[in-house]
Amino acid sequence: MLGMNIGIDLGTTSTIVYVEGKGIVISEPSAIAYDTETGGIMAVGKKAYDMYEKCPDSVYVVRPLENGVVSDFTATQHILKWYLNKICGFSIFKPNIIVCTPSGITGLEKRVILDLVTASGAGKACLIDEPLAASIGAGFDVHDPTGIMIVDIGGGTTDVAVISMGNVIASTSVRGAGNMFDESIRNYLKRERNIIVGKKTAEDIKTKIGCAVIRQDEVTMLAHGKDYVSNLPTFFEVSSVEIFLAMRDGLIQITDAITKVLEQTSPDLINDLYQKGICITGGGGNILGIAEFIEGQTGIKTFVAEDCLNCVAKGTGLAIKDMEFLANNGYVFKTREQIKGYNELDDLS
Ligand SMILES: Nc1ncnc2c1ncn2[C@@H]1O[C@H](COP(=O)(O)OP(=O)(O)O)[C@@H](O)[C@H]1O
Ligand SMILES: [Mg+2]
Repeated sequence: MLGMNIGIDLGTTSTIVYVEGKGIVISEPSAIAYDTETGGIMAVGKKAYDMYEKCPDSVYVVRPLENGVVSDFTATQHILKWYLNKICGFSIFKPNIIVCTPSGITGLEKRVILDLVTASGAGKACLIDEPLAASIGAGFDVHDPTGIMIVDIGGGTTDVAVISMGNVIASTSVRGAGNMFDESIRNYLKRERNIIVGKKTAEDIKTKIGCAVIRQDEVTMLAHGKDYVSNLPTFFEVSSVEIFLAMRDGLIQITDAITKVLEQTSPDLINDLYQKGICITGGGGNILGIAEFIEGQTGIKTFVAEDCLNCVAKGTGLAIKDMEFLANNGYVFKTREQIKGYNELDDLS
């Protein structure tokens, strides 16, 4: 195969691109900044995200996948095109591209993403299910007939799936994930402390002192916000116990989703899961005590995959090697024609 093999994890929070032989070449927030007047692209990725919620009226920043759906299609197109030009702008060979999209997007959105990837110069383009990509990136062998459970805690959604021989046997998706934790922290501070904080500050608090179990060594941090009553700036201290309490409902949503998937799983596979355990991937794998929390709630051994944030991108790229095996074992890599609803959507294009 002469063209590059590329895996793209089009995540709600980050866009991560894996190139076979090179590894992760791009890992940036899924954000784009436009000039309000001309509509021209000012920045993509981190530079655009840095302007988010802070920019003057002359700039507007879009995070098109923030809630797990494509809220702004043109912006998504621009982001993908920008990165693909960066990676294979000068190559004469067409790359093979596998894309992993957020689990909540519609058939139409998936199809347009594939069209766009093809239009940007892909030789072959197809979609892979996120949990399967995550499992490959976490180091599981698709040839192995033993069932495993993947819990991918991303920004917009947490996806729970049982996988065996490269096929998703049972799965579900819930909103209890990174963005919801941020929102819960904002709500908690407003309700309990009369303090308003921005989305970025909430995320910063979560990543610094967030936890899924009560920490033995309670930690605190200082942050800036606004007093809800006086509307004046305030500099306040917040503790890990408070953040634990704020995050609890979201964490329970995750274990409820795991229980739901366990209910759909056959007894033999359940037996496998008890042997192999639950594997956590996605940015949420970095929450202190997350494995301990899930293990405590489910009674199943739980661990966080190595380099959890990059598992999906890595697995998406690596899946190219196993495409034949997966296809022969019933896995459908969705090409444009195989996306559900293709015929009905034809007249929309
Ligand atoms: N150390 C951390 N503690 C808690 N949450 C984290 C940490 N690092 C990253 N995250 C969260 O992980 C989420 C992003 O995970 P990711 O798997 O990249 O999402 P997506 O696949 O939806 O783009 C964000 O909500 C981010 O705040
Ligand atoms: Mg993801």
